[in-house]
Amino acid sequence: MITAGIEALGVAVPGTYLDLSDLAQARGVPVAKFHEGLGVREMSVALASEDTVTLAARAARMALKDVDPHEIGLCIVGTETAVDHSKPVASFVQGLLGLPQHCRIYETKHACYGGTAGVMTALDWIRAGSHKGRKALVICADIARYPLGSPGEPTQGAGAVALLLSESPSLIALGPAVGTCSRDVNDFWRPLYKKSAIVDGQYSLSCYLEALQGAYLAWQVESGGLKPFRSDAFAAMVYHVPFPKMAKKAHWALRDFDGDRDPEVSYRWQVEHGLNFPQRVGNLYTASLYLSLASVLATDLRPLDGAQVGLFSYGSGSCAEFFTGIVTRGAQAKVKALQLDKMLDARRRISFAEYERTLAQAEGADAAPAKREAAGHPYTFLGVEADRRVYARP
Ligand code: COA
Repeated sequence: MITAGIEALGVAVPGTYLDLSDLAQARGVPVAKFHEGLGVREMSVALASEDTVTLAARAARMALKDVDPHEIGLCIVGTETAVDHSKPVASFVQGLLGLPQHCRIYETKHACYGGTAGVMTALDWIRAGSHKGRKALVICADIARYPLGSPGEPTQGAGAVALLLSESPSLIALGPAVGTCSRDVNDFWRPLYKKSAIVDGQYSLSCYLEALQGAYLAWQVESGGLKPFRSDAFAAMVYHVPFPKMAKKAHWALRDFDGDRDPEVSYRWQVEHGLNFPQRVGNLYTASLYLSLASVLATDLRPLDGAQVGLFSYGSGSCAEFFTGIVTRGAQAKVKALQLDKMLDARRRISFAEYERTLAQAEGADAAPAKREAAGHPYTFLGVEADRRVYARP
C-alpha cells in the first residue's frame, strides 16, 4: 500500500485575542473557573476583516511555502462556519492562492469532524493511486462563536490549520487503520439562520466520551488487535480540543478503559504538550485536533522521530474517528521552524469593550459594502459588492 500522510502544515490565527482573565472579570466569574475548570487562558478573536476564507488562505500559504501550487490535485476545506450556502470556501482559497484549474475543489461539513473527513478522503485518494503523483491540500478553518454570556462563551476561538498530504509524509505518516463511531445526536448544532451555535453542553461532553470509546474499540478491531492494547504505547495522544479540560476528560476516559487507575502520569507526557497552543487560541472546531498536533510537534522537547501518536477527531451530530501516525525524522525541527509560538506572542491583546465591539461589527460584516483599504493581513475580507465577497490579496 502507498504510504500517505502529512508533508507540511500551516497555521493561521487572528491578530487579536482576549485574555480570559478580562472575560472572567467582566462576567463576574472566578478566573480559576476558566483557567483550571476549562483550561483556557486566551481566546482568538477574529476582526470583521478576517473570515473563514482569509484564515484558510493564510494557513494554506504557510503549508505551501516550499510547494508549487500546480502540484495540488485536490483541495478540500473542512469548516462549519462557511461564508456562503453554495460557493465553497475552497473556491475562494483557490482564487487567492492561484491553485490550478485541474484541481478538484470542494468543502466538507460535519461539525468539528469536517476537516478529518477531508483528511480521510485525501488519504484514500493518495492510497488508491488516483492522485497520480499530485498532492492534496486539506484546510480546516473555523470561527467558533457561542452566545455572549453563555457557558460556551469562554470556549470560543478562531483560526485555521492547513495540511499538505502526499505520499512523501515528511511530518507524519498516517494510518492505515481507522476506527469510526457515528450516531444521530443533538449535542451541538447551528440552524441556518443563526451565527452562533446552540449546544447542550454537558450532553455534548458525554457524547464526545462515548464516541471516543466507540472509535477506540473500532480502531483496535481494524488494526487486528486480538490482544488487549494499552494506549500508553503512544508517545502522544492528540485529542479534539474544544477546550483543554475536554482533552483531559478524554484521556481519563481512555486510560480508564485500558484499566489504568492513575491517568495523571500519562496525561503529563502524552497530552499536555498538545494543549500549549489550544489554551492560547480557544476552540477552532475543525482545526482543533490539528492545532493540538502542531503543538505536540512544536513544544514537546522529547525526540519523537519514529514514535507513534494516537489521534482522536470528534464532530457533534456525530462522527468520530480514532487513528494513528508515525512521526517522521526531522518533523519536530520543521514545525519548530514555523515559529508558531512567536506568531501567538505577536498578537494584540484587546480589551473586553473592544471584544464586544468586534463581535458586533462581525455580525453585520457579511452584508457590509466593500471598503477599499486592506487591514494589515496578507488576505483581507473587504466586504460585499453586488452580492459578491471581495478580498484583498498580497
Ligand atoms: N475554580 C476552578 N474550577 C471551577 C470553578 C472555580 N471557581 N468553578 C467551576 N469550575 C469547574 C467545574 O468544576 C467544571 O470542572 P469539571 O468539568 O472538571 O467538573 C468546569 O469548571 C466547568 O464548569 P461547569 O459549571 O461544570 O460547566 P459550565 O456551565 O461552565 O459549562 C461547558 C462548561 C464545557 C459545558 C461549556 O463551556 C460549553 O457548553 N462549551 C461548549 C460545548 C463544548 O465545547 N462541548 C464539548 C464537546 S464537542
